[in-house]
Amino acid sequence: MEKIIPQHIAIIMDGNGRWAKKRGLARSFGHVEGAKALRRIMEYLPKIGVKYLTVYAFSTENWNRSEEEVSTLMSLFLKYIKNERKSMIKNGIRFYVSGRKNNVPQNLLSEIEKLQEETKNNEKLTLNIAFNYGGRAEIIDAVNKIIETDEKIIDEKIFSKYLYNSFPDPDLVIRTSGECRISNFLLWQIAYSELYITDILWPDFDEKEIDKAIENYSKRERRFGGVRNV
Ligand code: IPE
Ligand code: IPE
Ligand code: MG
Repeated sequence: MEKIIPQHIAIIMDGNGRWAKKRGLARSFGHVEGAKALRRIMEYLPKIGVKYLTVYAFSTENWNRSEEEVSTLMSLFLKYIKNERKSMIKNGIRFYVSGRKNNVPQNLLSEIEKLQEETKNNEKLTLNIAFNYGGRAEIIDAVNKIIETDEKIIDEKIFSKYLYNSFPDPDLVIRTSGECRISNFLLWQIAYSELYITDILWPDFDEKEIDKAIENYSKRERRFGGVRNV
């Protein structure tokens, strides 16, 4: 059977803390290894024809963590941008960040803006990082934008225009570390996405694991409310 390659994969990168704990290390080590896993996947997906990758890197609820952990996550993201900048430009990766700007350090915001601008015409893969992101926040932000406009009647297509980006909906959502929940990720966009949950912790996630997820996805029958094709 020929493998069906999803156009858009979204990943809830979970389990960094548990990965570190299992090794008697501080949670931040898990986040450092998690960034390496993201690099692996970001480099692999364009080779197999995936066009969009959305990853959940920091949720609107992750501010509830200790100040120390939050600041580790902020500085790791900044480091990721600086380290991966050249390779994204060279490999045709379009970098994009979806989320709220409030409370995000100014130097991080400027680096994000700079790399978004530098890579905006790249077409090999779009890497969309959900950072300071919440699905409910995105919907509320859209509503607040709409009430400032002259729109009178809203339908799904018009509403979508006011979301953080206009990328196609994810075909496949992967969550690592075994948790069976959405945790406020892409509430609008995943209405008909296929879900795949694995016990693998995010820092251990690699090319082999994504192949497994795609293999599994290939066997699904997406019906979108219709009936089985026989
Ligand atoms: C995912 O790993 C990374 C973020 C949420 C930023 P966690 O930090 O949630 O790891 P666990 O779930 O505690 O193992
Ligand atoms: C979801 O993971 C957020 C990210 C992966 C960035 P969490 O670890 O924050 O989610 P819960 O708390 O287990 O639902
Ligand atoms: Mg977690």
